[in-house]
Amino acid sequence: MKETIKNMAAYEAELPVAEVKATYGVSHVARLSANESPYGPSPKVGPAIRDVSDDVLGFYPDGQATALRQAVAKLEQVNPDSLVFGAGADELIELLTRVILTPNDNVIVPNPTFGEYAMHAQIEQATTKSIPVNQDTGHIDFDAMFDAVDEHTTMVWLANPNNPTGVFETRSDILSFLQKLPQSVVLVVDEAYYDFVDQIDATVIRDVKDYPNLVVLRTLSKAYGLANLRIGYGVMQEPLYQVMQAVRLPYNLNTYQITGAVAALSDQLYLQSVVAKVKSEREKFEQFLTKHQFKYYQSQTNFLWIKVGDAKRVGEALLSEGYQINDRLNAEWIRIALGTVSDNEGMQRILLRK
Ligand SMILES: Cc1ncc(COP(=O)(O)O)c(C=O)c1O
Repeated sequence: MKETIKNMAAYEAELPVAEVKATYGVSHVARLSANESPYGPSPKVGPAIRDVSDDVLGFYPDGQATALRQAVAKLEQVNPDSLVFGAGADELIELLTRVILTPNDNVIVPNPTFGEYAMHAQIEQATTKSIPVNQDTGHIDFDAMFDAVDEHTTMVWLANPNNPTGVFETRSDILSFLQKLPQSVVLVVDEAYYDFVDQIDATVIRDVKDYPNLVVLRTLSKAYGLANLRIGYGVMQEPLYQVMQAVRLPYNLNTYQITGAVAALSDQLYLQSVVAKVKSEREKFEQFLTKHQFKYYQSQTNFLWIKVGDAKRVGEALLSEGYQINDRLNAEWIRIALGTVSDNEGMQRILLRK
């Protein structure tokens, strides 16, 4: 077995709702620990999946996910032959790491950020350099990230907006950073929460065609409300595109995933309505945090990163009343996905008791 992963712990998944209900005797559980959508997907998705003929069951799915490829290419105005699909952005994170890293390499990530980047680097026996974000604002320290690049650096990860901070970096700041990076270093911009950003010119997805060392990731798990369907994609140029297509499993998305994802993408009005609700709740929650002098970072996502003192104690207080949030990432900070109006009000009442 690889020495680097001998003591690796398994991913701590969310407690099932039934277990929370039974343990705490609550009738309503708000699952707000994994940045999912309380609104679910477009109502077009379920019927589209149910309409798939049983005739397809005995045959492998379309290995190129052609219908989804065309839908994404049209929506995002990118080359269809720059799209690699996966079972969630998670699979793309795993694949990119597998394709790029060798044991002597290092990757650079902000701290804090999404844990999968470092986890997969560890599996590939590479090292991770974690560069603290600005403590006051949560912004990425691009200068420090650049200073950390050495001759063994092959990847830089940037979740934008970042998880768990929720903080967004502008396209111009990202491109300035990218222009300084050696071409041998791949910058992956993970735009899982892109849909929730206020700014219009927020994505670098259409810059991929100009930079062979830029990769952009997206997912339908967040704003599209489809975490269970497992749909993610990456946009990248040659030569990476060809290699990723060769290394991924041939039928990594099935027909139900492809059909459901196409239906979700076709309903942009629904997406906009979800995003509007999230933004409105985000604004109200931030006003509450400001009024009651909590430290938090300005979020451009569907979640908030809040300093509460004793994260475990506050997490337990919330859970005991049916609010499942993430208190496992930091001893003093919790991450709360924005819920419905009443869930957000309920959580605020408990936070005030801190
Ligand atoms: C920054 C970031 N990237 C990727 C993912 C994984 O998303 P998916 O459900 O598409 O695998 C998440 C999920 O929380 C995330 O926060």
